[in-house]
Order: sequence, then C-alpha cells, then structure tokens
Amino acid sequence: MPESMLKAVEVNSPCELEPWQVQTKIWREWIDQGLRFYTELGPASPEILTEAMRYSLLGPGKRLRPLLTLAACEMCGGRPEVSLPAACALEMIHAYSLVHDDLPGMDNDDFRRGRPTCHKQYNHATAILVGDSLQSLAFQVLAAAADPAAPRLMIGKREMEPWAVDVALHCIAQLAQAAGPAGMAGGQQDDLMADQLPCCEASLERIHRRKTGALLAASLKMGGIVAGVTSGELENLWQLGQDIGLAFQITDDLLDVTGDAQQVGKQTQKDSQQGKLTYPGLFGVDESHQKAQNLIRRAYDSLDRYGNRASVLRGLARFILEREQ
Ligand code: IPE
Ligand code: IPE
Ligand code: MG
Ligand code: MG
Ligand code: MG
Repeated sequence: MPESMLKAVEVNSPCELEPWQVQTKIWREWIDQGLRFYTELGPASPEILTEAMRYSLLGPGKRLRPLLTLAACEMCGGRPEVSLPAACALEMIHAYSLVHDDLPGMDNDDFRRGRPTCHKQYNHATAILVGDSLQSLAFQVLAAAADPAAPRLMIGKREMEPWAVDVALHCIAQLAQAAGPAGMAGGQQDDLMADQLPCCEASLERIHRRKTGALLAASLKMGGIVAGVTSGELENLWQLGQDIGLAFQITDDLLDVTGDAQQVGKQTQKDSQQGKLTYPGLFGVDESHQKAQNLIRRAYDSLDRYGNRASVLRGLARFILEREQ
C-alpha cells in the first residue's frame, strides 16, 4: 500500500478519532441520508436536472453547515436529529451558492470538491437551474417539516415527527435572510465588485460576513430555533456564528494561498489573479491567521457557558481554524 494511502487509513481509523469526531461521523451519515431522501424527486423533475442536483449536493464536501446545526441543537438541549430538515436546507443553499460561484460569470472555476464543477460536468444552463432548484427545494423542505401529510425522513427505524408551524416559519425567515441580498447573495455581489470598493478592512469584513458568515451564523441559530431556545439565546448563537463564519472565510482565503489544490479539492492561487479582496491579500498570511485565531478564541469563550454540551462545537471551531481542506 502506498504510504499516502496508509496515512489516510490511519487518520480515518476509528480508534484515533476524538469523541466529537465520532459524533460528527454519525451525524454526517444522517445528513447525507437526509439529502438523498429530499432529492428523490421522481418523474416530475427532469432526470438530468435531478442527477446534476445530486452531483453537486452529495459530492464530497465537509457538510460543515449542517453539522453546526445539529451541534447547536444538541448543545441547546434539543434532539439533534429533529434539526435535520434545517441542516439539509442549509446544505442545499450552500451547494447552490457553490454551483453559481463557480460559473464563468462569477469565479470561473473548473474544480470543486475534487471533481469537475457542475457547469463543466453538465453545462452552463443546467448549472444555473441546479442552483435555482436547490434554492427552492431548501425552502420546500423547511415548509414540509411542519406538514404532517408530507413524506417523513427516517433515521434508523425512527420517523421524524413534524415540527410546530412557528418553528418552520422562523427557520424559513432566517434562511431567506441569510441567503438573500442582505446575506450571501449581497456578499457575493460585493465580492465581484471588490475593485470598486475601498481596499480596507471594513469592506473586506463586510463582504466576508455576508457571503459566508451569514449562512454559518444561520446554521447555529437554526439549531437553536429547532431546540426552542429564548430570543436572547438565539442572539448569542448568532454572535458565535458570526465569529466562526468570519474565521471560516479567513481560512478559506488562506487555503487559496498556502493550500494544496489536491487536498483542498479546488484550484488554489486564484484570488489575487482575480483581484479579490482577501485577508492574506490585505494583511499577509501570518496576521490573517492571527485574526482567525482571535475569532475562534472568542468563540471558545462564548461556548464556556455550555460546559460539556459544547464539546462538538468546540471541535468544529478548532477544525475551522486548523483545517487543510
Ligand atoms: C466553500 O465552502 C465556499 C466558502 C463559503 C468559502 P466549504 O469549504 O464549506 O465547501 P465544502 O462544502 O466543504 O465543499
Ligand atoms: C464563496 O467564496 C462564497 C460562496 C459560495 C457564497 P469563495 O469564492 O472564496 O469560495 P471558493 O474558494 O470558490 O470555495
Ligand atoms: Mg467567490
Ligand atoms: Mg469561488
Ligand atoms: Mg475562496
């Protein structure tokens, strides 16, 4: 066996995993089960569109946003599996944002998650429709979560029970805000026009907080909504998500400069070529890393109040800082 493969086997060996990693491995299986279930679209959807949606949604990504939702739900005293519709809806919005982000009119990328991007594997028009469809499906999943007549996701032998209507409504409003013009879509617009914005930390932070931070913050908050926490608690989750979200995009910018394309699963060294406003571009690698570290330190501080119940979120926060993919 080649040495690199041996290393991969060792890294994946269950006895080497930390408890939070064992937990996220199980949750990741639930999430993928949910994503497969929700994309069984039947004859009403053209076969090629369903195939391309599944290609983009079920590819080998980290599933970070849905994991954050399950972790937040559990940390707030809920049963994590009850938050699966929210977790899957978030991953659908994320996958749609990636498909569109890679289009020639945006970042023009050929590789994503170690494979050809959706428009390369299929075609440009289908990639646009994949994004449109994943976005609609995300909101359909949230609405159906409160509909007792809708087909229900099974985890093991257990059928998911319907949510209260106000939980679904709150999640729909939260996700729409995070994905829309005041969130991800707005941040993406400014990211594309960065050369027309002042080249300063305020513009950069504003782009990153919306294009990436908003969905990550919504991931935590929606976990809390499903768990039924107070509005004050939801505000804390939002703040925590903001810190984790900004740190996540700083490490994404760093990986574009220092990462290995094979390991990251997408082309690197592209941001400066495309004139993107990034943390390493403005502050250099070391200072950017320091900034990400400070944000994660602050996230750790706000997790203190949850004691042991925050162990998965602590693990995920550390992963965000130290990740190589
Ligand atoms: C990549 O997100 C796009 C950004 C928002 C930086 P991820 O790094 O979470 O991508 P996947 O889901 O693991 O492929
Ligand atoms: C993408 O940011 C953010 C969204 C998809 C909303 P990037 O353009 O930096 O993400 P990558 O590097 O292509 O994954
Ligand atoms: Mg982009
Ligand atoms: Mg991109
Ligand atoms: Mg990037």
